[in-house]
Amino acid sequence: MKISPKFDPTANCVLFEGDCLNLLKQIPDKFVKLVVTSPPYNLGKEYETRRDLKKYLEIQKEIIEESVRILDDKGSICWQVGNYVENGKIIPLDIVLYPIFESLGLQLRNRIVWHFGHGLHASKRFSGRYEVVMWFTKSNDYTFNLDPIRVPQKYPQKKHFKGPNKGELSGNPLGKNPSDIWDIPNVKSNHIEKTIHPCQFPIELIERLVLSMTNENDWVFDPFMGVGSTAIASLMHNRKAIGAEIMSEYISVAKDRIKKAIKGELQMRPMDRPVYDPVIPTKSAPPKTIKIKKTNAVQNQLFEKKGKYKTRNSK
Ligand SMILES: C[S@@+](CC[C@H](N)C(=O)[O-])C[C@H]1O[C@@H](n2cnc3c(N)ncnc32)[C@H](O)[C@@H]1O
Repeated sequence: MKISPKFDPTANCVLFEGDCLNLLKQIPDKFVKLVVTSPPYNLGKEYETRRDLKKYLEIQKEIIEESVRILDDKGSICWQVGNYVENGKIIPLDIVLYPIFESLGLQLRNRIVWHFGHGLHASKRFSGRYEVVMWFTKSNDYTFNLDPIRVPQKYPQKKHFKGPNKGELSGNPLGKNPSDIWDIPNVKSNHIEKTIHPCQFPIELIERLVLSMTNENDWVFDPFMGVGSTAIASLMHNRKAIGAEIMSEYISVAKDRIKKAIKGELQMRPMDRPVYDPVIPTKSAPPKTIKIKKTNAVQNQLFEKKGKYKTRNSK
């Protein structure tokens, strides 16, 4: 596993410490299959300077333009955002960023609603419990693998009751499309993946995007890498990862997490673990240990291995 601090097409992973625009300048055209990121929201967090919204959008535009340049013609861009807040007034960032992507000829495929359970308790509006992933493609001919990310059918034993297939299972035995509403816990306090970063991605969120929008050995780029969640989700599925991060302490954590994953010691919340329900608190699953290795079988890794034509929740 070759991890490089600067652009290197022979590496498995590039973790660049510095401004993402400086890394972007070194990456050739059409080099990556997927750009996936969560940019700073201009809220004045410890890792960003709060700016006038117009200026913030100008900077985002520059980064998005360069990201489109390095994107493969069959590639995707996933920009995960929440709200910018100004004197208690919210401005959903997907609304103000959409015209930038549209002006660059990108096509919106989904606006995925990521619903989660933890956050500030608002007193003068409803507490915010979702953010969005804007998924754009560069063309109409794009990579999309549905099978590796299917989720269990709601009624897995449902059968055709008439016609030529009468008596056979009516749903896809591999599971159903996960839809555009994703219920995935955010990484707060006692989440198994929690690090020093105040807003890191849950690995399972990125896994779904990586598995569906790339193939093995493709490059995945994250301009705002934080503590390396995108890199981990990519490497564990035999993709290559490249990204930038301006804060050196986050780069160190990212390196440590990747090293742990190589040694088979990094824990993550598994994708098939049900969201905690206080009414049925015993319905749970243990954390999964990540093992990054050179030759990973990719397809259907998110499914337990069961007999042919059985779903995960079939008996
Ligand atoms: C919302 S966080 C992303 C966290 C990341 N998704 C993770 O899982 O750790 C945004 C990150 O962008 C970094 N950042 C801000 N401006 C940057 C820039 N110009 N270039 C590279 N990184 C930047 C911040 O330090 C912060 O860690």
